Amino acid sequence: MTAPKLALTDSDLHSSKVDALVIGTVQGAGGLELAAGAETVDAAFDGSLTDVLATLGATGKAEEVVKLPSLGRVTAPLVIAVGLGKPDADGTVGEERVRRASGAAARALGGKKRAATALSALHLGAAVEGTLLGAYSFTAYKSEPGDGPVARVDLVTPAEGTKRAHTAALKAATAIAEAVTTARDLVNTPPNDLYPGSFADRAAELGRSVGLEVEVLDEKALRKGGFGGILGVGAGSTRQPRLVRLSYRGSKTGKKVALVGKGITFDTGGISIKPAGGMDEMTSDMSGAAAVVAAVVLAAKLKYPLEVTATVPMAENMPSGAAYRPGDVLTMYGGKTVEVLNTDAEGRLILADAIVRACEDGPDYLIETATLTGAQVVALGKRTAGVMGSDEFRDRVAATGTAVGESAWAMPLPEELRGDLDSRLADLANVTGHRWGGMLAAGIFLREFVAEGVQWAHVDIAGPAYNSGGPHGYTGKGGTGTPVRTIAAVLADIAANG
Ligand code: BES
Ligand code: MN
Ligand code: ZN
Repeated sequence: MTAPKLALTDSDLHSSKVDALVIGTVQGAGGLELAAGAETVDAAFDGSLTDVLATLGATGKAEEVVKLPSLGRVTAPLVIAVGLGKPDADGTVGEERVRRASGAAARALGGKKRAATALSALHLGAAVEGTLLGAYSFTAYKSEPGDGPVARVDLVTPAEGTKRAHTAALKAATAIAEAVTTARDLVNTPPNDLYPGSFADRAAELGRSVGLEVEVLDEKALRKGGFGGILGVGAGSTRQPRLVRLSYRGSKTGKKVALVGKGITFDTGGISIKPAGGMDEMTSDMSGAAAVVAAVVLAAKLKYPLEVTATVPMAENMPSGAAYRPGDVLTMYGGKTVEVLNTDAEGRLILADAIVRACEDGPDYLIETATLTGAQVVALGKRTAGVMGSDEFRDRVAATGTAVGESAWAMPLPEELRGDLDSRLADLANVTGHRWGGMLAAGIFLREFVAEGVQWAHVDIAGPAYNSGGPHGYTGKGGTGTPVRTIAAVLADIAANG
């Protein structure tokens, strides 16, 4: 897929020689209203645009798309009015509303050559991200890829701010959207083509393309290093596991951040096999890995004054004569032993090795993310991630995620669950004997492997990583690229505030 080309424009929308104009509508106190940026278009309709759109059924509701033939009133033949919903209490329209409306508009523009949007006048960065992400589709495996996205979108420049600031905002938002797209591409690549070896190759290539330090441990190196969790989970597959490390050193004096992401390229459950229904979605069980790979590459592109290292365990969880089994005891990297009671609780096993390795670098912060538990989806639904970890950093990550439109919620690590992970044989078991608080029990398990003094956040994205339903806002079907934008925003926040 080729992404739309975006450019800032200062010319008036009404005379713009494009195939379609995008304007925003809101649900005001007295009904439908036009959002800022549509003034000259409204003037070309003699101030009757609101009435005309209302006649067509427009209400301003979030993501509503109403198409109006312009009949020569403006140069463009088509006006597309996209709903932004109700304005905030202060009368403004929040960033996420602009991002979603821009995504809905981009989907409606598919196949067109050129459009111009007024939504960027409300918030430039959000409009850029929403447009690029809404235009995304994964067609690598289609014989007939179809129309493709809109080829070019002109963005109305916001009234406030300098040209320099606008150009910088366009560039940064484009880089962020590209990182999300990179993660989506990895998640959407099917598991027969994306397996530990090929995933490691792609991650290494992405890393090298921006000058990162790259280290790839293959099965032999993992054995030598004693990575018992990754090796145990990977044993059942003919595709051997990997541990990839990508390091960006943007500062010698800035904070050190470790990223860890779950890279199960397919999760059958192993010997504790999953039911057939919906198992295909386990192609997305490497979404955490995809996000941290994309995020460290982005950190380098945006030159954050930080040191960021992504430590990414990759394995395929398969049942076979060579597979690990319930009852096995694994010796993890660093020496802790774990009794496996369920081979479907495999994510925490590969993550434990990676967390211990990541903590050897002495990071200030550790952000780890994984499609870890079905219990996350039960507790918070398909669109809100669960965040656990050190109290302060957990709250900071959850708040930052929600602020950038990746809804996230802080969850506790109830102390009593630790006892339920006690093992008859080993230092701990990989599951409790019950299903209560399954998301939290996984967090409690991971906590055992985090070094003292490291500010840690664990982001369970089992629901948000993959959209099994229809498209909405800037999110299409399949991989969503969550939580790339959360990680990017947390890194930016650490760079600015420590
Ligand atoms: N990859 C799954 C979790 C998952 C479920 C992700 C649904 C996305 C959607 C994970 O490896 C898993 O199987 N977890 C088990 C843990 C249980 C055995 C303690 C689960 O949630 O059922
Ligand atoms: Mn599993
Ligand atoms: Zn899994």
